[in-house]
Amino acid sequence: MKLHVRSTDWAEHVAEAVIARLRARPELKLCLPTGLTPVPVYQRLAAAVGARRVSFRSAEVVLLDEFGGVSADDPGRCDRMLERDLLAHIDLPAERFHRFDLTGDLEAACAAHERAVGDGCDLALLGLGTNGHIGMNEPGSATDSLTRRVELAPETIAASQRYFGHDRLPTWGVTMGIGTLRRSREIWLLATGPVKAAVVRDTLLAPISAEKPSTLLRDHPCALLVVDNEAAELLPVTGSGQPAL
Ligand code: PGA
Repeated sequence: MKLHVRSTDWAEHVAEAVIARLRARPELKLCLPTGLTPVPVYQRLAAAVGARRVSFRSAEVVLLDEFGGVSADDPGRCDRMLERDLLAHIDLPAERFHRFDLTGDLEAACAAHERAVGDGCDLALLGLGTNGHIGMNEPGSATDSLTRRVELAPETIAASQRYFGHDRLPTWGVTMGIGTLRRSREIWLLATGPVKAAVVRDTLLAPISAEKPSTLLRDHPCALLVVDNEAAELLPVTGSGQPAL
């Protein structure tokens, strides 16, 4: 896993890299997360589409995860968040967005998602939970896990309060597995702010273990951890102040 520390321009950097990938391969298959971290990246991608610098017309977007047990129109759902933050502002055809249909057979929905991923996404963007979760792969998730139903860790349930405008918080969800994500050609893990500093340090330096799921991406051949200065503040540094990694 490579580390990339940026200052306030981290989102610009990530957005421009996504735009470059899309221009090189218009049919790019992207796994996209929700949450607060990627929002500045999505704003820049939306602006680039508005300015006709890039198009998602031939691309495919696979949603990383989804909360279970919440109503189809709840604004805290992951598909609603992604629609609001990105999809409403870009030119991706609706049929090229793979969300989770949790109204029927859950296993069938997970199998459909695995089929949508196929031999792997070209690029997976991921956020990072303070407990090391990626998507909803909570501590204990296996490195070869596939898309499945998961129970949410107490801290993930508590943290979901910031997405929901009520206190009927979800206790479970469905997520692409770590094995599903590891099939991606490239994985970019995004972490910003001081609250992520400890998990950034652990992602790079703690023993590789299912107890810290983000460490399970460390030996992926093309994994990149993009952090801002605040999220990098617990990393060991060299004499010149640069992270010693
Ligand atoms: P956040 O969530 O981007 O809202 O911090 C990340 C996560 O918990 O996966």
